[in-house]
Amino acid sequence: MNKIIQLITVTSLAISAACFSGCTTMKTPNGTITKADFGTTPDGKTVELYTLKNDAGAEARIMTYGGIVQSLIMPDKHGQMADVVLGFDTLDGYVSDAYLKGCPYFGALIGRYGNRIGGAKFTLEGQTYTLAGNNHGNSLHGGLKGFDKVVWTARPMATTHGPALIMTYVSKDGEEGFPGNLEVTAIYTLTDKNALKLEYTAKTDKPTVVNLTQHSYFNLAGQGNGDILGHLVYINANQTTPVDSLLITTGDFADVTGTPFDFRTPTAIGARINDTNTVLQYGPGYDHNWVVNKPLGQFGLQARVTEPVSGRVMEVWSDEPGLQFYAGNFLDGTLKGKGGVAYQVHTGFAMEPQHFPDSPNKPGFPSVELKPGQTYHNTIVYKFSVE
Ligand code: BGC
Repeated sequence: MNKIIQLITVTSLAISAACFSGCTTMKTPNGTITKADFGTTPDGKTVELYTLKNDAGAEARIMTYGGIVQSLIMPDKHGQMADVVLGFDTLDGYVSDAYLKGCPYFGALIGRYGNRIGGAKFTLEGQTYTLAGNNHGNSLHGGLKGFDKVVWTARPMATTHGPALIMTYVSKDGEEGFPGNLEVTAIYTLTDKNALKLEYTAKTDKPTVVNLTQHSYFNLAGQGNGDILGHLVYINANQTTPVDSLLITTGDFADVTGTPFDFRTPTAIGARINDTNTVLQYGPGYDHNWVVNKPLGQFGLQARVTEPVSGRVMEVWSDEPGLQFYAGNFLDGTLKGKGGVAYQVHTGFAMEPQHFPDSPNKPGFPSVELKPGQTYHNTIVYKFSVE
C-alpha cells in the first residue's frame, strides 16, 4: 500500500515537473492524464486543460479556469462517442463579453454559494454580510467573480478508480462579501465505470456559509445535437421548495403530486415545461429545487435521465439534500459553442446537487453554515451508462 502511495506521489511530481510547456501524458492504472496549455486569462493568468481518459475510452477535460468541465465524452448504445456537455473550444469563449453578460456558467465549479441568496445579504452570528446583487438584486452563484471565474491550482493523481485531478483554491476573507478565509479542494475523478465523480471539501477560519456545486449543461444526444426536451427525467423527490417570481425560495415545501414538478415517473422534459403552473412559469420552465427523498447527509440517487435515441443514461448521485434542475431556459442562441453551434433555448440541462436556495435566510432549511474546525463535504457523481 505504502509503495503504491509512494509511486503515485512520485508519478504526480514527475508530471508536474515535466509539464511547464507543451503537453505531457501520464499513465494511470486504468487510463491517462494529459496536461496542455489552454491560454491566458485577460488578467494574465495561465490556464491549463487536463484530459482524464479511462481505458474504456471515456474522457473528461477539466480547465483550471473556473474548475470548468470543458468536455465530457461518453459512449452511446452503439459505442459511438460524443461530447455530452455544452461549452467552448477555446478559453476565449469563456471570458468573452457575450458569455459574461449571459452568465450561463457552462460546466463551472460554483461557489461559495451556489444558487440564490435573497436580497444579496444574510446574517450570521449577529453580523450582516452584503454581497453583490448580480441577479435582480439577489446574489447568484457566488457573486460577480465566483469560483467559476478564478484560476485553480491543479495536480494530477493516479488512483485505482480512475485518473483524477486535485484542484485547490483559497478564497480570501471578504472575497465577494463572504466572511472567512476558505480553503477549498475539489477532486475530479473519471472512474473506470464511466462516472465523473466530484468531491468537494472546505475549511474556514471564521463562521461562513458554503454551498458548492457543479454546473455542467448536459445534452445526452451530444452537445450541439438539438434540444433536450425529449430526454426522460426521473427525480427522486416528493417535494420542491417553491419560489417567488425572482426564484427566491419562500421557505415553504410543496408536494409535487398533480403538478408538472412530479418526476417520480420518468417524463419527457418537454411534456409539461409550458404548463400554466405559476411557479413553473417563473422559471420560465424548470429552474427549481427538488427536496430529495433521503435522510440529510446520506449519499443516494437524486435523478436519472435517459435520452431515448442514443440510449445514453445519466444518474445523479449525491449526499446533498437538494437538486436544482435547470432546463437551459435562458439560452437564446447568442452563444456559439463547440463546433460553432448556436446554443438555442433548452439545448442543455443542468442537474446541480446542492443545499436549498437562500438557505442562509431560511431558518427552516438545513443549515449551510461552516464553522472553524469543521470540514465541509459534498460528493456529486454523474454515472453514465446505456440502455
Ligand atoms: C440557475 C438559473 C440560472 C443558471 C445560469 C442555474 O443554476 O438556477 O436561474 O439562469 O444557473 O446562471
